[in-house]
Amino acid sequence: MLLLKSIRVHYNKREAVKGISLEVGEGDFVVVIGPNGAGKTSVLNVISGVINPSEGEVWFRSERIDRLAPEKIAARGIIHVPEGRRIFPKLTVMENLQMGAYLQKDKTKVERELERIFHLFPILKERTRQRGESLSGGEQQMLAIGRGLMAGPALLLIDEPSLGLSPLVTQHVAEQMTVINREGIAILLVEQNARMGLKLANRGYVLTNGDLVLEGTTAELVKNEEIRKAYLGL
Ligand SMILES: Nc1ncnc2c1ncn2[C@@H]1O[C@H](COP(=O)(O)OP(=O)(O)OP(=O)(O)O)[C@@H](O)[C@H]1O
Ligand SMILES: [Mg+2]
Repeated sequence: MLLLKSIRVHYNKREAVKGISLEVGEGDFVVVIGPNGAGKTSVLNVISGVINPSEGEVWFRSERIDRLAPEKIAARGIIHVPEGRRIFPKLTVMENLQMGAYLQKDKTKVERELERIFHLFPILKERTRQRGESLSGGEQQMLAIGRGLMAGPALLLIDEPSLGLSPLVTQHVAEQMTVINREGIAILLVEQNARMGLKLANRGYVLTNGDLVLEGTTAELVKNEEIRKAYLGL
C-alpha cells in the first residue's frame, strides 16, 4: 500500500533521515519506535507531504506521491494525525470534526462517520459544543484521531498519541486504534511508548539517529534482546 524507498531528509546541511525504506501493507498496523530526535516525525511529514525528502521516493497504491501537495496526498486517503494533536483551540469539538471532513462532499457519509467516531469516543459526543482548548489532553487526542477519521482515510499516520496521557487514557486510545484498524484502516503509528506500540502493531521498525536499525514482526521484536533492554526495560 505504502512504500518508502531510500528516503533522506536534510534540515539545512544536517541529515535527519538517512536513507530509510519502509512498507505498510493494505490493512496493516505498523509501528515505528525510537528515541527523541530519531527522525520519526520527519518520516511522517515526508509521507503526508508536509516536507519534501532530499532523496528517495514515496509510493502509495502504485503511484508516486512524494512531489504532491499535502492536500492531494490527503485526498488519496493518507491522513496525518500530528504530534501534539494540533486541534483548532477556538473551534468547538463539532467544528473541529467538520474541518476533518472538508474533502467529503457526501453529507450522509459525514453523518455516518460522526456516528462511528462518537461510538469510538463517546466522551466527544458529550463535548460537541465545547471549545477544543477546553478539552483534557486525552480528549484532545481523541478529537485529533476523530478529525482524521472524518476524512475517510485508507491510511492513518498517528504521531505519539500517548504523549502526556495517563496510562488509563493511553489504554483507551490504544484499544480504539485497534478497533479502527480492524475496521479496515491501515495505521502507521509512531511511538516512544514502545511497549504500547509493539503490543498494538503487527510489524515494527526501530529508528535511531535517522537510521532504521531493526525491523520485523512485533512478535519477533519483543523477543529481541536489544529492544528488551533499550525500550522495554526488561
Ligand atoms: N524544521 C526543522 N529544522 C531543523 N531541524 C529539524 C527540524 N525538524 C526536525 N529537526 C531535527 O531533525 C531531527 C529529527 O527530528 P524529528 O522531529 O523527526 O524526530 P522525532 O523522532 O520525531 O523526535 P521526538 O520523539 O522528540 O518527537 C532532530 O534532530 C530535530 O532537531
Ligand atoms: Mg516526533
